Parts: sequence; C-alpha cells; structure tokens
Amino acid sequence: MKNHQTLIALDKILADTYALMLKTQNYHWNVTGANFKALHELFQSQYEDMFGAVDEIAERIRAIGSRVEGTFDHFKKISDLANPNKNFDSRNMLQDLVNDNTILAKLLREAINIAQSEGDEASADLFIQRSKIHDKAIWMLTSSLN
Ligand SMILES: [Fe+2]
Repeated sequence: MKNHQTLIALDKILADTYALMLKTQNYHWNVTGANFKALHELFQSQYEDMFGAVDEIAERIRAIGSRVEGTFDHFKKISDLANPNKNFDSRNMLQDLVNDNTILAKLLREAINIAQSEGDEASADLFIQRSKIHDKAIWMLTSSLN
C-alpha cells in the first residue's frame, strides 16, 4: 500500500485522540474548585470536538481501504498517554491536558509530513486541521492556568 506510514499515523492518532477525549471527559466530571463551571464547560467543548474527530480519523482509515481496530485494548496498547487522575486539583488537570495536547500536536505535525511524503494530501489536510485545534486547546488550557 502506497500510504502505509500514513495509515500507521492515523491509527496512532486515533488511539491518542480517543485517550485524550476520555481524559478530558473524566476531568469534566471530576473537576472541582472556584473555576468549576468554566473548566467543566471548557472540558466539555474539547471532549465533544474529539468525539467528532475520532469518527473523522477512523473514517479516513476506511477511505484508505483498511479496517479500523476500534477497541479499548488496541487504543491502550497504541496510545502513550497516561491515564487520568480523578483526584487531581484543577491546576494539575489543566497541566495534564496541556501536556497531552502538546504530545498530540507534535505527533500531528510529524504526521502531516508523513502523509505529504506519501502523496496523501487528504490525510495531510485532516492532520493540519487537527493540529490547529490542539494548538488552540493548548492556548485555552494554558490561559486558564494563569
Ligand atoms: Fe456533562
């Protein structure tokens, strides 16, 4: 298959996006403190975006012609993101989400190059869109820390 490395990148980004979606939703549920409402809502908007994103990423894998693993076992095996900690205070939750969004943004920038080198501009376009969204998430989460 001509876009084999792109497929590997899509699979990895699907797993990490799924893991970060669940972590962000976990923090939506468990966040406490003076900024509860703002953070509860910020986290919701971010996990909802990622819920849409995992569908797009998985359907891109299908469009390329491969089946989607789509199991918790596979996501856990492929993703490098640590589990959420439900007992974190809001600062640690924000920092944890900044770190994971940064990991994902870096991965996406690498994936853009991989897809372009394999002539898969449509996957590159998806990676570009996702990297912009994670850059924005990093900005919003970081701004909430100060
Ligand atoms: Fe909710």
